[in-house]
Amino acid sequence: MQNFFFLAFLAIFLLALLLLKNTLKNRELTAFYKNFQTPEIGNKSDSLIKKLIFGHLIDFSRESGSTSAGFDWRRKCITETGAHVIRFFSRKMLVIYSPEIVQFFTNLDAELVEKSQNFKRIFNNLTSSVLFKEGKDWKADRKHFEPFCFYDMVKKYASYFYSGAQDLSTKLLDAGKSGKSVLVDQLVQELTLKTLMASLLGIELDLSEEESKQLNDDFITVSMTMKLDKSLGDILAKIPLLRRFSKKGQKEKAAFENLRNLVDQILDQAANTKKISDLAFYLQKKTKMTRDEIAANIFLFTMAGHETNKSSIVWALYELAKDPELQKQLVEEFNQKKALGIDILTYVQQESLLSSFVSEVQRFYSVAPEIVPRTLKRSVTMPNGLVAPKGTTFMLGIWESHMNPTSYFEPEKFNPRRFLDNDIAKNAFIPFSAGQRKCVGYKYGITQVRTVIATLLEKCEFKLDTAHHVNMTRVMTMNPHNGVKLFISPRKNDA
Ligand code: HEM
Repeated sequence: MQNFFFLAFLAIFLLALLLLKNTLKNRELTAFYKNFQTPEIGNKSDSLIKKLIFGHLIDFSRESGSTSAGFDWRRKCITETGAHVIRFFSRKMLVIYSPEIVQFFTNLDAELVEKSQNFKRIFNNLTSSVLFKEGKDWKADRKHFEPFCFYDMVKKYASYFYSGAQDLSTKLLDAGKSGKSVLVDQLVQELTLKTLMASLLGIELDLSEEESKQLNDDFITVSMTMKLDKSLGDILAKIPLLRRFSKKGQKEKAAFENLRNLVDQILDQAANTKKISDLAFYLQKKTKMTRDEIAANIFLFTMAGHETNKSSIVWALYELAKDPELQKQLVEEFNQKKALGIDILTYVQQESLLSSFVSEVQRFYSVAPEIVPRTLKRSVTMPNGLVAPKGTTFMLGIWESHMNPTSYFEPEKFNPRRFLDNDIAKNAFIPFSAGQRKCVGYKYGITQVRTVIATLLEKCEFKLDTAHHVNMTRVMTMNPHNGVKLFISPRKNDA
């Protein structure tokens, strides 16, 4: 009996010691976070327990199936301090969006920051890819990929962008012939998936619409495991150790096997063709990456490289369809360039109405609305003298940066000329993130989106189906909920 009391006392004492240690450790952090406002959690109907458990997550994902309201809430949280604190489950983190704060945090040396461990669970199958590497390992891997995404390589891929867009315009016009409105998302996604595979990975896929839809589903399933869904259904899926026995786990297994077969096919084909300019061959022969690491990187590049571009193109078509005058002006601009002997690849690299319009699409819809949160490994002093202690977690709010009224005049309005007319502060426009870990594929992304839009506008006229309501929703990237429906007809040559 005496022993029992002694052990119970010891356990309570150790627990108290642990709590005290954590409180002391967190004191500095709590004091630092106090310099920034914390938004009120919006909806009165949510119970206190729910708010305490989920923190601001419930407002991030308000309305099931759609996150428009959640994003509206995020817009309202923006303060003049350029950053605010949110609670994500029980953890606090700083959402940053003023250009100066973004500049400071995104330029910290890679050795000083690490990506939040919690988020690695969401992207389970991508953890050995460059996206989740840290410090020296990240620098080494990133060096392997950069040459494949530089402008010279993108120039090589341009013919794929162009022929893919030509093919898409034929499909859109065919679908539009019936006079009914066309759901464009699936056709655009087929284009970006096939183009990414052909240009970067050297594999020409001849897929039916159904097969390409399945392949895309597989990529999303494999990339984003442990999604933060609120439903309690499929309870086994919520328990990491038992997940493989759940319906979701089974689906993930099938998708993973399907994609590993495809990766093996890509790698075997690359090994036979033996071209060092081929990413898949280079990774096998010139790096120490294991086949699993190469596979994780191929998953990442395919996912990051096609889903983002697809969403940007679909949102661009949606905005164009609302504005026939803008369509005309863009066609006129392209015709003038051609008359001057400027080819499409040169045109899409220049500052123009087209580049301003595409930038506005990327600002207004922020297809990647934030980056994976990072944690500081050491204390750092901010330019205003505040010390951000070790353990500070920050998340680059891409959405907040793009909706920040201090950086943009009437940010909630879509203005295709915004980037022609205004000087935008450095680090206020960050669709590809900022600093050293900025998206490696940004040149690829910009070039493809602009090329596709210019090519489609030459052939097609778009009109919005106003009976079809469009809302924003988060899949992997920000997408139109239920897609975008347009009336499509051949462009008359009066532009
Ligand atoms: C509109 C198109 C795109 C957008 C908006 C976009 C956005 C982003 C963002 C915000 C990040 C930072 C993620 C983070 O650090 O948590 C990122 C990283 C990355 N993106 Fe993109 N991306 C686009 C296109 C592409 C393309 C075409 C490729 C490949 C060809 C690509 C490959 C990558 C890779 C590999 C990373 C990880 C880089 C690293 O951690 O060093 N992305 N992208």
